Amino acid sequence: MRFIKAVALAGTVAIFTATSAFAADVKIGFIVKQPEEPWFQDEWKFADEAAKEKGFTLVKIGAQDGEKVQSAIDNLGAQGAQGFIICTPDVKLGPGIVAKAAANDLKLMTVDDRLVNADGSPIEDVPHMGISATKIGEAVGEAIVAEIKKRGWDMKEVGAIRVSYDQLPTAVDRVEGALSVLKANGFPEANIFDAPQAKTDTEAALNAATVVLNKNAGIKKWVAVGLNDEAVLGAVRATETVGIPADSMIGIGIGGADSAINEFKKPSATGFFGTVIISPKRHGYETALNMYEWIANDKEPEKLILTAGQLALRDNYEAVRKELGIE
Ligand code: GLA
Repeated sequence: MRFIKAVALAGTVAIFTATSAFAADVKIGFIVKQPEEPWFQDEWKFADEAAKEKGFTLVKIGAQDGEKVQSAIDNLGAQGAQGFIICTPDVKLGPGIVAKAAANDLKLMTVDDRLVNADGSPIEDVPHMGISATKIGEAVGEAIVAEIKKRGWDMKEVGAIRVSYDQLPTAVDRVEGALSVLKANGFPEANIFDAPQAKTDTEAALNAATVVLNKNAGIKKWVAVGLNDEAVLGAVRATETVGIPADSMIGIGIGGADSAINEFKKPSATGFFGTVIISPKRHGYETALNMYEWIANDKEPEKLILTAGQLALRDNYEAVRKELGIE
């Protein structure tokens, strides 16, 4: 009897040790395309919270091009990680990323930018969390139309800068969502100007928008849409450079991280009128948690999760952030 008890006890101890040691052994990579962008820093911050809560190790890696992505994945494999989440610098790297992950025996999830096959279709096997791009774009469009009306502008006299990054499907869905609402409300198609950015940052958007403004110097009132806050901020900076006053510009971004918040904190309003705040908490914390559950408890994540956004303006962004739990 005493012997059985001892064995049972030893067994419990062994099982307990095995599970708690396992959590500590879990290593998850979180690779992002633009580590300098506040959105991605927030994603990392919330992923760190999940790591702390569950006791796993989070390895954060910035990978701005395909080569860095490849070596990041090999590196995670060599370190004994079991899985990673990635926002890739180029969605066309999709098949290569899938193959590299498999070669290193790593579970794979994507965030923000969904991988595509050689024919441009999404790789549906890889669990993905992105924003509901078209809907969020439409919210941008609705807010711009409402403000155009409030200011009493004649749409025929207004230009729209479409800061574009058309190689990224979510970027196309976002700007097209916004522009569809403008057009449905009578905004002339001929007044919409494409400003293709070479990179998804403010500087590239500023350069692209400046070309549009210089070519259309006769237009004095502008609106701007883009895939994120940085894109719209670039357009806003461009209007400032050519001398268009803040009250003749309505730029509405997507994101709501520091890039937008810093703009709202400026003593006087700029042409950056608002942003649709999306949730870095869901994209960081929840993806990391889902990956952990997949590794530790064999619980496969949903194949596709699309998150929502909420419009915020200069005077209510703090309340909206609070509501979304991302202060
Ligand atoms: C893309 C953009 C980011 C951010 C995310 C949100 O990756 O480049 O700025 O908007 O989508 O999903």
